[in-house]
Amino acid sequence: MRVQVVIIGGGPSGLLLGQLLHQKGIDTLVLERKTRDYVLGRIRAGVLEVGFVNLMREAGVAKRMERESFIHGGTVISYEDMQFGINFEALTGNHVVVYGQTEVTRDLYDARAAVGAKTVFNTEHVEIHGADSDAPYVTYQVDGTEHRVDCDYVAGCDGFHGISRQSIPLTVRREYEKVYPFGWLGILSETPPVNDELIYAGSDRGFALCSMRNANLSRYYIQCSLSDHAEDWTDAAFWQELKRRIPAEAAERLVTGPSIEKSIAPLRSFVCEPMRWGRLFLCGDAAHIVPPTGAKGLNTAASDIHYLYHALVQVYETGETEGINRYSEKALARVWKTQRFSWWMTTLLHRFPHQSEFDLKVQKAEIAFLRDSRDAQTVLAQNYVGLPY
Ligand code: FAD
Ligand code: DHB
Repeated sequence: MRVQVVIIGGGPSGLLLGQLLHQKGIDTLVLERKTRDYVLGRIRAGVLEVGFVNLMREAGVAKRMERESFIHGGTVISYEDMQFGINFEALTGNHVVVYGQTEVTRDLYDARAAVGAKTVFNTEHVEIHGADSDAPYVTYQVDGTEHRVDCDYVAGCDGFHGISRQSIPLTVRREYEKVYPFGWLGILSETPPVNDELIYAGSDRGFALCSMRNANLSRYYIQCSLSDHAEDWTDAAFWQELKRRIPAEAAERLVTGPSIEKSIAPLRSFVCEPMRWGRLFLCGDAAHIVPPTGAKGLNTAASDIHYLYHALVQVYETGETEGINRYSEKALARVWKTQRFSWWMTTLLHRFPHQSEFDLKVQKAEIAFLRDSRDAQTVLAQNYVGLPY
């Protein structure tokens, strides 16, 4: 079998790239290790930058998103006795869009099936060969049968635990990492959101986030210990802890109910350089991870896809290789800025073990500065709504 671009990983990065390339007549094969239902069962991102939404439009898959998503023109920050809004619209003229990653992925799978583009699920032993040659190919197994697909380019969209990044030799690859000493316990519940904007809350008991998916579906997170297990947290214990971390008025009006999903995510900052090796291009979580504070993971994946999509269209339409030659440099320039922002939001709002009294005073002063300075709020807002591509 031969296709122009093999895409490893059927998460949002791989599917979005596939759909954009399809619109330009470039054929792709998506290889996904799990099943469609498994991928759709992962509850992850909820906040999208307008840049992401525009890419979905360009890919021709934004119809349901335009109908069912929610525009958020600001967010609330709370920290002990301080509470204030950051008005994205007033500070930047821009907003973010609330629409779950699950829905994005569902729309992309439906569109891929509708145009007859090929996806292979349950792939095992995926291997990239000859990425540094002019004739790369990928081998994989399904039900024990070996397959080979020849291609022009390989897009490594297989997430943090994928094989694409590992295919870049250690003599070429450099990795930068910071692991945080806590995780996020998240729940999804069929209850109305506590607030019409998200609440990012720092407290002496740790961080909490109030988010949502729609008018009757709420998503809440609390900072937890890395040794915690989601199944040991009863719903009652979760709600009680959340209430202790968010502003008192919000805690009073919080509607609780049974959780329909509960999971713990560790927090990590990670970047792999370069993001291109020969004809292999890394995109999204395969190349970088951010801690979720600031909602930048999926959005940074989308900016990689923007750069790679334009680079591939350029080379197929004009033969010009400037885009692919500069892919890693362009993508990484934006990646490091979202790394900085995510690290900063995380540091600002979480409790760290061994934080000294001095550290806490500085953290509190930084929140007070943010509350009182329009300039500081503008910096947050610009990063939150998304830096330009
Ligand atoms: P993934 O979603 O990891 O997809 C990779 C795919 O590749 C998977 O389907 C996997 O099964 C497949 N795969 C792996 N290995 C192989 C292999 N060897 N062969 C074939 N397939 C393979 N981001 C935001 O922007 N906003 C948010 O609000 C936000 N909130 C988050 C909340 C939580 C709790 C978490 C955990 C993350 C959040 N993120 C958020 C981050 C976001 O979910 C990720 O950045 C996003 O999923 C990255 O997409 P991806 O397609 O690059 O990788
Ligand atoms: C959500 C997740 C985030 O990490 C974030 O910063 C905002 C919202 C969410 O899942 O809704």
